[in-house]
Amino acid sequence: MDDVSAHFNPMAPDQLANPYPLYERLRRERPVFYSPTFDLWVVTRYADISEVERDTAHFSSVGSLDARAEPHPEVRAVLAQGYSQFLSLVQSDLPDHTRVRAVFGKALSAQRIAAMEPTIRATADALIDGFIRDGKADLIQQFAYALPGFIICDLLGVPRSDMEQLKRWSDDKTALMSATAPIEQLVQCAHGFIAMERYFREKLHERRSHPREDLLTLLVPQSLGGTAPLSEQEAVCNAMDLFAAGHETTTGLIGNGMWLLLNAPEQLEAVREDPSLLPNALEEMLRVESPIRGFFRTVTADTPLSGVTLPKGGRAFILYASGNRDETQFAEPDRFDIRRTDAKKHLAFGKGIHFCVGAPLAKLEGRIAFEQLLRRLPGLRLRIDEAPVHRPYFMLRGFEHLPIAWNVPA
Ligand code: HEM
Repeated sequence: MDDVSAHFNPMAPDQLANPYPLYERLRRERPVFYSPTFDLWVVTRYADISEVERDTAHFSSVGSLDARAEPHPEVRAVLAQGYSQFLSLVQSDLPDHTRVRAVFGKALSAQRIAAMEPTIRATADALIDGFIRDGKADLIQQFAYALPGFIICDLLGVPRSDMEQLKRWSDDKTALMSATAPIEQLVQCAHGFIAMERYFREKLHERRSHPREDLLTLLVPQSLGGTAPLSEQEAVCNAMDLFAAGHETTTGLIGNGMWLLLNAPEQLEAVREDPSLLPNALEEMLRVESPIRGFFRTVTADTPLSGVTLPKGGRAFILYASGNRDETQFAEPDRFDIRRTDAKKHLAFGKGIHFCVGAPLAKLEGRIAFEQLLRRLPGLRLRIDEAPVHRPYFMLRGFEHLPIAWNVPA
């Protein structure tokens, strides 16, 4: 029989377009499998993904996303100019995780996030003002990356005018992690990575002498005169990760969610007429089209899972995008239904100790984005003259371009 696991390649054009039929077969025939192409143990069922997230002793997050995982010597030579290891919250294990997470709890507290609502709405409106008269736009390039990009700049306390540069560096970091680009390009990305490290190191040093009401100031280590129980290296790496985590995932939520609504016009109309449906609609968007397809772990000891033994030292890839369509958890899992009562139990924000610390911000940005777009752009539709284009990333799932059109208001 054809081994379905041999087809796994998130960047293949058919899987960029629609990976879900393959995931359905994988859950049935090879729920946990080794991919020699990616040197990964891929975990596809909801229950197994939850188990990996829970069992932090056997599945370590340390170094799991390190852009430096066995890089090419030329790439390594550039990265050697910076820190020897990438120490961020998402890549830490207990007990370090508890220490670092406490800093984030303060920095991204519900109160702090709720206070940003007027700024987020004004930013969304200003972006819409920029294209509303055109009757058409690329939702990703003209709205969905700028909104969370500007807001994470505000939170960190860096100028919005630096957003484009930070985004380029952050894209370099993402490309390094995927490591699928040609070597010359990866070397360029490594330079971008180092420049981003330097940028945040300098900003943290500025905050040491000139503290402000911002997230970077909260990250300044005690050793530098701040209050955070972090090292300088941890503070820099976490600032870099926050910029990346704080924008590109939410870009994915807005783009993927809009695409789902535009393909279900009656549900789009329902949300437009009754925005109180939005919070649950956002959960369902995250379930059906998860912006982070999956995340990595390192196996610390031989560990059985669904009849397969994952070997010590192996790397696991927990495929949220598959778990979120697991038929043992969700009735008619491929159906997008903004009124689904159990949408919220999706895995798109992870589970357990690493559950996304930015989830309240992502949901607030998502809600405001859809409220303003649906309210201000009547007759919203996909353009038929230009097709949407997916980003070719291993870990992330979302659009690079999403051409939309609407009726220009009188
Ligand atoms: C729709 C948008 C978002 C999605 C889908 C998402 C998804 C995730 C997922 C799946 C994890 C868990 C990773 C794991 O288990 O190893 C995570 C963790 C994290 N996210 Fe998000 N995220 C989003 C938005 C944000 C935002 C806006 C921020 C920051 C402002 C953020 C910051 C973080 C951080 C710092 C962690 C690490 C938490 C920890 O390890 O304790 N995320 N996110």
